[in-house]
Amino acid sequence: MRHPKIKTLLPGPKASRLIDEDKAFISPSYTRAYPLVVDNAKGVWIQDVDGNEFLDFTAGIAVCSTGHCHPEVVQAIKEQSDNLLHMAGADFYYVPQISLAKKLSSLFPDGTNHKVYFGSTGSEAVEAAFKLARRHTKRELNIAFFGSFHGRTMGALSLTASKTIQKKLYNPLVPGITHIPYGYCYRCPYDHCYPQCGVECTHWIEDTLFRTTMPPEEVAAIFVEPIQGEGGCIVPPPEFHRALSNIAEKYGILLIADEVQSGMGRTGKMFAMEHFGVVPDIVTLAKGIASGLPLGAMIARAEIMDWEAGSHSSTFGGNPVSCQAALMTIQLLEEGLMANANVQGQRLLKGLQELQGVYECMGDVRGKGLMIGVEFVKDRKTKERATEWRDEIIKNAFQKGLLLLGCGENSIRFSPPLTVTSDEVDVCVSILDEAIKKVAG
Ligand SMILES: Cc1ncc(COP(=O)(O)O)c(C=O)c1O
Repeated sequence: MRHPKIKTLLPGPKASRLIDEDKAFISPSYTRAYPLVVDNAKGVWIQDVDGNEFLDFTAGIAVCSTGHCHPEVVQAIKEQSDNLLHMAGADFYYVPQISLAKKLSSLFPDGTNHKVYFGSTGSEAVEAAFKLARRHTKRELNIAFFGSFHGRTMGALSLTASKTIQKKLYNPLVPGITHIPYGYCYRCPYDHCYPQCGVECTHWIEDTLFRTTMPPEEVAAIFVEPIQGEGGCIVPPPEFHRALSNIAEKYGILLIADEVQSGMGRTGKMFAMEHFGVVPDIVTLAKGIASGLPLGAMIARAEIMDWEAGSHSSTFGGNPVSCQAALMTIQLLEEGLMANANVQGQRLLKGLQELQGVYECMGDVRGKGLMIGVEFVKDRKTKERATEWRDEIIKNAFQKGLLLLGCGENSIRFSPPLTVTSDEVDVCVSILDEAIKKVAG
């Protein structure tokens, strides 16, 4: 069984020098949880510049879905790079962009024709959905959820309600957005218990919001993450999205699923919304779609994507190399990686639940497929958030060669490449065990 190999103090000498240079030349707005300086990576394994080997349960923030440098993805990239690097899919036509749009359209279980707008990032995909919703419905208001993360450009940031630091000193943002509580049962904002609550958090939209401050006929869209990623890997109750979809349909509102993090097989299905039996009007994708190359996609039913030529565009969107990487990524997902996400996700969930039986500080363990989160608390009864412990545990894991990322205020997320094996899952759980023991044992 392969284990991480840490040969130097962390950060090692080369890493320390590079971090100093980074400090001098790179924007200080980035958050770095620990001093990892990557040199190369294959599959689920990363080597740093000092030759230390790490087990990667971050996949570059849920991006390297097929593992780092999957040979077939790399081959597809090489072949496309020899042929055509760029020709601006917004102004000209080429095969990879058309082929990928056709493939993405075919992934929708309802069999209706979909059209695709391509950008390069998740924020751009959300931004495009935001603009299309306004233009198509000719309505100005929107609903989004507390805890959501939709991106950092001004429109996407206006929809985001994750951390105030992300919005500080950027006001005024785009007006007309109302944030409401998400289906976060572990910390129900209404202090109810599922299922006795009858999913009150969704009824509240009609019973309170639409009766008091928000005329439903002026609402363009509801933006929602099927599972909140940055917010803490929060899985809402099974009826949540169906209820949102019913409300949207009743009032002619578009339901927009931001699948930037949850999509492309990560949860064991192509789109996380499939777990909830809901087909949204618009879906946004990025992150895992092209195994590490920049690509964002906004997909809408053909009759919704009715904006005219010149209304929205992007020079780099739908880059041919990224499109070929995405086509190969989808092929690999369909050939087995999505199924592996299910199998290994269940194994990881079980391993984490066993640890939860040992450590009081593991308040909640939740997730679908390989989108899993653990919420750390000081006390199981009061659920007081153990943010410092969470941060310590992530740092301890790093020192032992396991790469993890935080999410929400006090959670750790587990989002390895979908190629992860049972042995690698077991190594992750045993290192996590040691990392927690040091803090809360
Ligand atoms: C759900 C969701 N939407 C949008 C974004 C923004 O994507 P990007 O950072 O590629 O702009 C993210 C990024 O974490 C995300 O998780």
